[in-house]
Amino acid sequence: MSYPYQIKSIEDYQQAYQQSVIDPEGFWANVADHFYWRRKWDKVLDWNFKDPEIKWFTGAKLNITENCLDRHLGTLGNTPAIIWEPNDPEEHHRIITYRDLYNKVCQFANVLKNNGVKKGDRVCIYMGMIPELAIAILACARIGAVHSVVFGGFSAQSIADRIQDAQCSLVITCDGAYRGAKDIPLKSVMDDALMACPSVKKVIVCTRTRTPVSMLKGRDLWWEDEIKQVETMGNPPCPAEEMDAEDLLFILYTSGSTGKPKGVVHTCAGYMIYANYTFVNTFQYQPGEVYFCTADIGWITGHSYIAYGPLSAGATTLMFEGVPTYPDAGRLWEIVDKFRVNTLYTAPTAIRSLMSYGLGPVNHKDLSSLKKLGSVGEPINEEAWHWFKDNIGKGKCPIVDTWWQTETGGIMITPIAGITKEKPGYATLPLPGVQPILVDENGKELKGNGVSGNLCIKFPWPGMLRSTYGDHERFRKTYFSTYENLYFTGDGCLRDEDGYYRITGRVDDVLNVSGHRIGTAEVENAINMHAGVVESAVVGYPHDIKGQGIYAYVIMERLTHDLELTKKDIAQTVARIIGPIAKPDKIQIVGGLPKTRSGKIMRRILRKIAENDLDNLGDISTLLDPSVVEEIKKGKL
Ligand code: WT7
Repeated sequence: MSYPYQIKSIEDYQQAYQQSVIDPEGFWANVADHFYWRRKWDKVLDWNFKDPEIKWFTGAKLNITENCLDRHLGTLGNTPAIIWEPNDPEEHHRIITYRDLYNKVCQFANVLKNNGVKKGDRVCIYMGMIPELAIAILACARIGAVHSVVFGGFSAQSIADRIQDAQCSLVITCDGAYRGAKDIPLKSVMDDALMACPSVKKVIVCTRTRTPVSMLKGRDLWWEDEIKQVETMGNPPCPAEEMDAEDLLFILYTSGSTGKPKGVVHTCAGYMIYANYTFVNTFQYQPGEVYFCTADIGWITGHSYIAYGPLSAGATTLMFEGVPTYPDAGRLWEIVDKFRVNTLYTAPTAIRSLMSYGLGPVNHKDLSSLKKLGSVGEPINEEAWHWFKDNIGKGKCPIVDTWWQTETGGIMITPIAGITKEKPGYATLPLPGVQPILVDENGKELKGNGVSGNLCIKFPWPGMLRSTYGDHERFRKTYFSTYENLYFTGDGCLRDEDGYYRITGRVDDVLNVSGHRIGTAEVENAINMHAGVVESAVVGYPHDIKGQGIYAYVIMERLTHDLELTKKDIAQTVARIIGPIAKPDKIQIVGGLPKTRSGKIMRRILRKIAENDLDNLGDISTLLDPSVVEEIKKGKL
């Protein structure tokens, strides 16, 4: 595989960037020419940010799996597509070549067809990080079904909300999942979710942990049995469904500032081009390299940079089932050594956590294969950046600090590995095709360098979301109504004297806990479901490892003797309703919350208290009852 659109120097970058702004349609058409199309487009781009409506490659016909699989068979058939490393280092790893992957995807696509799945149907996938998860999403794409992957850490309630919103007709899950020292009983959690999901007609269960499960007759089927059926049919091929450029590829739910997660919609052609272009360029992928992204396919990073980006580029992508600290904090370095990994793409929270173990687990590991490092999900602090650079990259590997979002489909602002001069804490420069703009509160553009404001994007890029599932008005309101004719990211950002971008964090009520996006309203709703809770307010505070921790202020109907137990129960309720990732780190029981006369909670004050910045609370005179502030300060944890 060669990548004629791969940037090779900073001059190349500048030229590509210029062209992408002067002639975006010509620029992206040139990239798109290097993909496999059933039919090429009539028009590259139609758009307006008012309705809003965004369409790329109108009239084109394709199937993303023909680009990820079929087109590689001739040259890369025997090349590893996926290297899979299990949770338990004693268990054998698996290597799946492009030909194996093609066969397995076709086989499972036929299983889906045998079970009545048709183009356009929604399929919920709730699995651990095993190769069958990648096979499942590709099999959906093969037949034009829309996948909605739900991260294995979400609760039954969260799954049910997502299945209902998308009206999924089929679910793919596992008996259980291994994650570090834990076994997660996926099927049993799914059974609880499905009690509230009448749209689901079939459930396919893949064996992983051999945890006993109950199988509902007529609804639940074993993955392995279904595959056998396809085998007895003589393993017929599964021709790829011809998709329109703007047909849905997948839905992925993410948190916003309201209580209800949004189904971010990505479509076939634009997403494919963008995931591939950003992968090939950001990481400067070279044929034969081994690339390792530590994310979970349950998040967008896994969709774009474990599955679709690397596979569409014919790359070898390493998929790891476990966590960086199991069985010990040397695990990632062992994996790098074992498979001679060339690129490692991970999250600041993982780096900070590994840093806390000191250099013991790093010493004596052979990391000499590493050429490029990457970071994603949250701002990376300088200390973690230098630790990564010096101790993992041994001073010789570039680090790409990639800023993007579930909504953007792929990387937006980042250094290009080895080409862009890096600066710790900075995502540096926009990739070609990305036109960032900083605005003040009133939407006025902040021109020039040395400014900071809210980060918006003023022109469409192929990977951007097209809607929020089932609610286009919400899409408009969330992203295009704050500032006229701009896509608003929700992030604050600074552009320094060199024109480099530094993301400073969310400016809305969204938290970033260990790189996971969590809406404060969602956590509050969950807390409020706990018996005896009158009201709650949730804010973020700086956390050494997680980046942000969750701080909850809770008013109880009456106080019990054992406050500690009450707090523990509340945290448990949140874990049960949303999932363990949303569990508050600190809960303070309070008598009242600081509210304005119109009843609005003043989160600014609560944030300051949570941050322990008690002397800078600002003006509290507009509060209905300023004395609650003193009381909260006194009870501060
Ligand atoms: C939010 C998006 C991008 C995939 C993983 C997270 C924050 C992401 C960076 C970065 C500073 C970052 C932003 C963004 N974020 N990358 N390199 N530097 N902040 O996707 O769950 O949709 O979250 O993550 O606040 O808006 P997500």
